[in-house]
Amino acid sequence: MNQNYSRRQFLQTLALGLTASSLSTQLLAGASHSSVNINRTINTAFKPDVEFELTALPNAISILRGEKTHVYQYTAQLIKGPERSLQFLKAGYLAPLIHLQQGQKVRVIFRNQLPEASIVHWHGLHVPQHSDGHPQYAINSGEQYVYEFEVLNPAGSSFYHPHTHELTGKQVYYGLGGLITVEDELEKKLMLPKGEFDLPFVIQDRRFNAQNQLIYAHQMPQRMMGFLGDHILINGEINKSFQVKSRAYRFRALNASNSRIYKLAWDDGTPLIAIGTDGHLLASPQQLPYVMLSPGERVDLWLDFTGRALNSVATLVSLPFSGVMPTMAGMHGRGRRQMGGMGMMNSTLPQGAKFTLAQFNITEVIHDSPHLPKQLAPFKLWTDADVDNANTPIEIGLSMSPMSPRLNGHTFAMDRVFDTEVVALGSRKKIKLFHQTGLGMMSQMLTMAHPVHLHGQQYQVLSRKNVSMNPEQYAMVKDGFIQQAWKDTVLVMPGEEIEIIKPFEDYRGLFLYHCHNLEHEDLGMMRQFYVS
Ligand code: C2O
Ligand code: CU
Ligand code: CU
Repeated sequence: MNQNYSRRQFLQTLALGLTASSLSTQLLAGASHSSVNINRTINTAFKPDVEFELTALPNAISILRGEKTHVYQYTAQLIKGPERSLQFLKAGYLAPLIHLQQGQKVRVIFRNQLPEASIVHWHGLHVPQHSDGHPQYAINSGEQYVYEFEVLNPAGSSFYHPHTHELTGKQVYYGLGGLITVEDELEKKLMLPKGEFDLPFVIQDRRFNAQNQLIYAHQMPQRMMGFLGDHILINGEINKSFQVKSRAYRFRALNASNSRIYKLAWDDGTPLIAIGTDGHLLASPQQLPYVMLSPGERVDLWLDFTGRALNSVATLVSLPFSGVMPTMAGMHGRGRRQMGGMGMMNSTLPQGAKFTLAQFNITEVIHDSPHLPKQLAPFKLWTDADVDNANTPIEIGLSMSPMSPRLNGHTFAMDRVFDTEVVALGSRKKIKLFHQTGLGMMSQMLTMAHPVHLHGQQYQVLSRKNVSMNPEQYAMVKDGFIQQAWKDTVLVMPGEEIEIIKPFEDYRGLFLYHCHNLEHEDLGMMRQFYVS
């Protein structure tokens, strides 16, 4: 498998697949001033504020007791910029944290030392196509790829991970993934917890064999259902516990799992306080009984240990829920059940099971804690009046034909964009996400939850509607969706219909949208918009 199309070849193929001739002219015009070696060498006219090398390589580290586990890992080396731009974790396989500031110009020299092709995507950052990690840019072992972009995002948390054609799931699973934080001037004034009080909380599930080696399913039907592990890792470590002081912390939770969905909550029933979602701070803190976090989603949590006693323990768990896996829709009574057989085959820890995520040990009592600000970042809620297609939303239909999860009935093709996927630069569109169950009996049966991610700018959720999910099951998840927030990934429950409003500003080019269940993505549940 060689994904190293030259840009020119790629665009020519792309143009052939189009019906709109004006578009192909534009695409070819774009190709004429780019060379085959695009982004293999640095652009000397670009003056970075931060520059670092990022290397993906195989490694062996201690995760479980005994034998080391073979993983893939990102390592990094700062070439230019503030010392704190890269933060290295002491244990686990998680990649270094990348700390950026809004307005910084960033250059990353990615070196691939894996035995296979790879490319890095900055999930959540709004960057040009050539820096977005489109699979067409995957480089072979031993090659390098240069990213150059400006940080346009406001304060928030993002996720960097591979985006290699058909290998994203595997490469993330073996350890490639890390957290990016962006800070802006507005956030600085809020005096949110910083430094040792601002911590990553990257959640993943993994499965190990008796020799402590990772097991990953490459076979159907596990890929169709999504791969689930039975060990929970936080920041690349197993049985993670945090030693905390009796004060407020900021925890940046990221679901970097391949397909597991979490229902985050305190074990003792204390509500959670969210201060941010995917890429932005909220307008004001929101209190929720629990937060649903599907693959690719982030939530910034204000975890306050004030008043907790010395040596007491607070436990963050994932609460039980059901109804996200395929059901025999249309069957009733005893016939209607989750596909238990497949669940068993998939993992001893089924989707929706209850388990512990991490423990927080109060090891020091202090009497000085920052206050939760009442207001965070400005937010204007968009309505139909803010889009140019209120009555004709762009449709993204989710379906599962027997061996392939699809978008609008199609799987990914590197060289295809449909007319309905061409969007004018500067426009703001209403997009409807729904389950397309009209394609036959099997697809009806295989309705399941899909976390839908769109590259590029963050969007707002305009409406969420439960059309056909069992109300009891829906009641177990519905209070965990954060409203009035900026999102780049949204969980569409089975039977749910969601409308979003997404801006397409600043950059022309190809921007992917896909299911962030990584097995689904690799099976082709991915398409692309062309911003023209
Ligand atoms: Cu986090 Cu296109 O991916
Ligand atoms: Cu992304
Ligand atoms: Cu999916």
